[in-house]
Amino acid sequence: MKNITIIYWSGTGNTQQMAVAVAEGAKEKGMEVTLKEVANASVQDVLKADAVALGCPSMGCEVLEEAEMEPFVEALEKEDLKGKPMALFGSFDWGDGQWMRDWTDRMEKLGVKLVAEGLTVQNTPDENGIASCKELGSKLADG
Ligand SMILES: Cc1cc2nc3c(=O)[nH]c(=O)nc-3n(C[C@H](O)[C@H](O)[C@H](O)COP(=O)(O)O)c2cc1C
Repeated sequence: MKNITIIYWSGTGNTQQMAVAVAEGAKEKGMEVTLKEVANASVQDVLKADAVALGCPSMGCEVLEEAEMEPFVEALEKEDLKGKPMALFGSFDWGDGQWMRDWTDRMEKLGVKLVAEGLTVQNTPDENGIASCKELGSKLADG
């Protein structure tokens, strides 16, 4: 069975709801899913997973959350992640998604295999947002 690891940071729960829905989408495809807050995750979790989803809202001024997620992503940038199936997702509010474009560029530079465009949802995911998250989990399962 393939293992999918989902690692996220969420301050007010919106990205967490997205993470749970991504997990459901992958589980529906029969995957073994590990869901972790970034504070409890390690680079090894990413290295050993068959596929990975990373979630973080837009924070600061269109950047990743700086205390936990940014250092985690910086640590990933020191690893060989070429070809690793990956999906990015996160919630935002007033911006235009620049944080996700920047994050996507960084991951693409590592040669990961992004299975879809970074999924962004404004504030709390509604029914459509949840469905998109499940679909993302399903795409990740397909690799
Ligand atoms: C300190 C702070 C900075 C934020 N900066 C941005 C931003 O630059 N662009 C944006 O679109 N939303 C920004 N937001 C809004 C959050 O991305 C939005 O509330 C999101 O739904 C939070 O997700 P969470 O519930 O997973 O923490 C910011 C929120 C906070 C608290």
